[in-house]
Amino acid sequence: MSAESTPPTQRVLLITGASSGIGAATARHAREQGWRVVLAARSLERLQALADELGGPQHALALRCDVTSWEDQQGMVIAALAAFGRIDAAFANAGFGGPRGFLADTPEHWREMVLTNVYGAALTIRATIPALRDSRGHLLLTSSVAGRRALPGSLYSCTKHAVTAMGEAARQDLNGTGIRVTLIEPGITDTPFFDEPPSDAPLRDADIARAVIYANSQPPHVNVNEILIRPTAQPV
Ligand SMILES: NC(=O)c1ccc[n+]([C@@H]2O[C@H](COP(=O)([O-])OP(=O)(O)OC[C@H]3O[C@@H](n4cnc5c(N)ncnc54)[C@H](OP(=O)(O)O)[C@@H]3O)[C@@H](O)[C@H]2O)c1
Repeated sequence: MSAESTPPTQRVLLITGASSGIGAATARHAREQGWRVVLAARSLERLQALADELGGPQHALALRCDVTSWEDQQGMVIAALAAFGRIDAAFANAGFGGPRGFLADTPEHWREMVLTNVYGAALTIRATIPALRDSRGHLLLTSSVAGRRALPGSLYSCTKHAVTAMGEAARQDLNGTGIRVTLIEPGITDTPFFDEPPSDAPLRDADIARAVIYANSQPPHVNVNEILIRPTAQPV
């Protein structure tokens, strides 16, 4: 059965980076709409607590997955299909940032960030395409405002430009399969992404979660390709 003809209570949304922030908020919002959710990240305890909050194994599955590992990503999809039999939407959301300035961060942290934000997102696409083909499902990727404008000295913004390109590359590649592709491009959002809570009335994680569900709620012939969301007070 394709995603659009499946009742929300039988649909399955897989989320990477689900242990916190935008991913966790999206899981909560999706559950409110009736979706079953697959929650993936490295912190299994946090995922398990969220899965319990969201109704337990009938409704929410917690899976340890380091997105930089192809084995983990394959295992995540196998476990999701074993539990729920289908994946209707995959949200490649795991990622993190770092200090701005080409002399500010360590090469080791750069490596982890590029592997997580770019390679990890690509692996999630690769791992989920077969299941999304079966469901004529939906692929969503978290880019950023920083994936639309380069920020001074920010390798993070370069990784998010790569994710923005990946969304369009995937859209073209998957054209004709029925799979829709959406880039979610948040501005400053108050999550553990930041060491200190951001000032100037940032977005909340739930604001981004609503955008994910909005994109998915459109009729099957409508492919919302990008949603760029800034807090009203964000100047750049
Ligand atoms: N907050 C913002 O202002 C903002 C703006 C634009 C875009 N974004 C993007 O939004 C996405 C979510 O970030 P957030 O703001 O919600 O921050 P967050 O609360 O820190 O969430 C980041 C998530 O990514 C997961 N993660 C990190 N490395 C991972 C890995 N190797 N494998 C699997 N999961 C990994 C973390 O879980 P574990 O540590 O448990 O693995 C966590 O669940 C990121 O891609 C970020 O770049 C954020």
